[in-house]
Amino acid sequence: MTTNNWLEKDKKQLHPVYHPKSHANALVIERGEGVWLYTVDGKKILDGMAGLWNVNVGYGREELAKVAYDQMKSLAFTSNFSGMTNLPSIQLAEKLAGFAYEGLNTTLFVSGGSEANDSAFKTARYYWKRKGKPTKYKVIARKGSYHGVTLAATFATGLEKYHTMFGPAMDGFVHIPAPNPYRYEGQLKGDENIGQAAARSLEEAILRENPDTVAAFIAEPVMGVGGVIIPPDDYFPLVRAICDKYEILFIADEVITGFGRTGEWFGLKHWNVKPDILSFAKAITSGYAQLGGIQISDTLRDAIETATEPEAFMHGYTYSGHAMSCAVGLKNLEIMEKENYPQRAKELGKRLLEGLQTLKEFSFVGDVRGLGLVCGVEIVSDKESKNPDPAMTMKIFKAAQERGLRTRPLGNTLAFSPPLSINEEEVDEIVKRLGAAMDGI
Ligand SMILES: Cc1ncc(COP(=O)(O)O)c(C=O)c1O
Repeated sequence: MTTNNWLEKDKKQLHPVYHPKSHANALVIERGEGVWLYTVDGKKILDGMAGLWNVNVGYGREELAKVAYDQMKSLAFTSNFSGMTNLPSIQLAEKLAGFAYEGLNTTLFVSGGSEANDSAFKTARYYWKRKGKPTKYKVIARKGSYHGVTLAATFATGLEKYHTMFGPAMDGFVHIPAPNPYRYEGQLKGDENIGQAAARSLEEAILRENPDTVAAFIAEPVMGVGGVIIPPDDYFPLVRAICDKYEILFIADEVITGFGRTGEWFGLKHWNVKPDILSFAKAITSGYAQLGGIQISDTLRDAIETATEPEAFMHGYTYSGHAMSCAVGLKNLEIMEKENYPQRAKELGKRLLEGLQTLKEFSFVGDVRGLGLVCGVEIVSDKESKNPDPAMTMKIFKAAQERGLRTRPLGNTLAFSPPLSINEEEVDEIVKRLGAAMDGI
């Protein structure tokens, strides 16, 4: 069958984040190996996005297929609602205890990042009710953030286009400026820098809303979908101190930055900051099975553990602690530890960033940034005005795809987040193909 035949049949499927224009000429992928994807019409594409920031160990891993097969054969699924449990979920929760951050020893498993964030918001509300502060329910998030598409995650997300057709907005989500070093949209006061100004905007929002109504602050350590935004070094330590001052729980959305992507196992490690709740998903299984979760601090765990029966934690999903997914997660972690992925991300990320920075010679490349193996190339009409140029960004994206390189256009930023299993030559190939695409425009 031809690609067009497949795409005709594909019309029976509604794709996520869909518009007919964005799905025209979709790639039909048949198989993957390492960092490479192969289409039904024989094209070989370097996946510069590791799927959706998640296929950290690369495609076609025999060990993961085997573990899934064995687990499905012996036990694919059991209820994990209280009263029953299974071995892979016990083992994975044990492995994860304290793995990301000291003091985060309890995991609630879910199926993906949006569910993780909804669970984080509900757990924050639950906690404050248990502490006798039921008026604390609001969540402060940043403009430009992406937290998923369940109803609460949609309105925590700070990107308008995800709200437009799904309003009215849910009550209780407030957005503040993000610490974007290239284009900060807030105001600087006196001699303060962007990190300090963005942190101040959090304190101001808490006071404006009234601290007695605010349950939590949520942030991605490195903003992904919002354009790969890396905060200044002082931002997160200041944010942590402000959260402590006003009794606000800090939720780290590490759905992208978790499991080695940025050169540390988890993103906030770069700034020596610890969250109260951690949301994770994606690379926990490198995309080989659907799995996510939240990890909660011992203080939050105690509040759940010591509740009366009417205050029970009535939250969780059919697929919480899915046996096959947890078995895959365990094996995937073993591979990432054995192959030392955070270190690889650090070293190869440096090489990728240096390579991408050479493209600054193009008049339309405004900014190139990265942390570990997540990078962004921001496209502007010219370097002086810094005016975003999404049309040019799309052109470069398409030209790169014609040259067998998959990136992701996010507004006027091209994102790169390849598998952490990538090697030096493949990193150089990303830069070469992107350079050729820009050259041909
Ligand atoms: C930071 C972040 N949070 C949450 C999500 C939502 O995850 P999912 O699509 O698995 O629901 C994503 C997805 O890209 C994400 O990047």
